[in-house]
Amino acid sequence: MDRMIVAGRTEVMIGAGLPSPLLPANRARRNVLVLTQPAATGRAMAIADRLRSEALNTEVMGLPDRDQAKTIQVVSSVYLAMSDMRMTLDDTVVGVGGGSVTDVAGFVAGTWMRGIEVVHFPTTFLASIDAAVGGKTGINVGGKNLVGVFWHPTRVVVDTGILSTLPGSLVREGLAEAVKAGLVGDPDLVALFETNGSEAPTEEVVRRSLSVKASLVDLDPLDRGERAFLNFGHTIGHAVEYASTLSHGESVSLGMVAAAHVSAELEGFPDLLRVVRILERLDLPVAVEGIDRTRVLDLVGRDKKRNAEGVRMVLLRGVGDPVLRPVAPAHIEAALDAIGVQGR
Ligand SMILES: NC(=O)c1ccc[n+]([C@@H]2O[C@H](COP(=O)([O-])OP(=O)(O)OC[C@H]3O[C@@H](n4cnc5c(N)ncnc54)[C@H](O)[C@@H]3O)[C@@H](O)[C@H]2O)c1
Ligand SMILES: [Zn+2]
Repeated sequence: MDRMIVAGRTEVMIGAGLPSPLLPANRARRNVLVLTQPAATGRAMAIADRLRSEALNTEVMGLPDRDQAKTIQVVSSVYLAMSDMRMTLDDTVVGVGGGSVTDVAGFVAGTWMRGIEVVHFPTTFLASIDAAVGGKTGINVGGKNLVGVFWHPTRVVVDTGILSTLPGSLVREGLAEAVKAGLVGDPDLVALFETNGSEAPTEEVVRRSLSVKASLVDLDPLDRGERAFLNFGHTIGHAVEYASTLSHGESVSLGMVAAAHVSAELEGFPDLLRVVRILERLDLPVAVEGIDRTRVLDLVGRDKKRNAEGVRMVLLRGVGDPVLRPVAPAHIEAALDAIGVQGR
């Protein structure tokens, strides 16, 4: 398996299958609580069996699917399970599932007794290249991801065998973030998609996407600066996501086209058409109909990163050359025209 260290403390292992032993060495560890979600239960059970065979007292707790897992009520029920197990500072929380599971697992681990070990076994593409790595955790209270702590896993195991069994819709969710990683930090990754489309080798896509995230996390562990480059496509993307029934990845694809359009106008970004072609080849949307423009504009205007000069957006001067800039409303409007979000 390939190994990579992120933020000086997370060992990311990439390859087909599982490592042995499953968890980093720790003789004092007695208990492991495995958190999972419906689609990943079989895998969680297999991991739990392995942990039991390594003489660890192991319980599996199923969380509700997707964002239904990211509530304070669910977190509270996990704490009660941890209390029943008498989990101590030597014990470990394991997340097996998509980003909703790794977010909750990281959050409960980071807050139980002010922080115990967490290890992730992501089962979606998005969690493998993004959510499981970087130390951000979050639950939804009064708004998405408004409550969280920074808490790094000690190990993240990306099993590329699992990624090859995912349904196309979940693959596209990951590919959108992988293209984003390439655009802000790895021109070779962009070229890989340009040449191979969705046939791009999974392991290389994962490794390159994670390297981009890892270097930005290393530069900016607390997300106060350069890490914002990972939000490329997300300012308009999030607004489109909330104003539509599109998935996160589809919305980010549209957000990247919009941001590339603004980049062409304000920064002379030369590769707008290239970005559009790559996303089209990956079956990701580059234009939509039927989205309420007023609502999108309103949502963009409420973005956390707004100041007096406009909304702070990540723009590209070139592929792999991002920059944060305030963008005035007129440019946002032109970008919405470019992705087909018209006035009604
Ligand atoms: N902490 C971070 O840095 C960070 C970064 C990006 C996203 N996120 C969070 O991640 C979440 C989205 O991630 P996601 O899409 O991975 O999460 P998810 O947990 O919502 O999973 C999406 C769907 O995939 C299913 N699934 C999981 N594994 C599967 C498999 N192997 N085969 C088939 N189906 C499977 C799940 O049951 C679910 O229905 C959001 O809550 C988001 O806020 C966090
Ligand atoms: Zn995203």
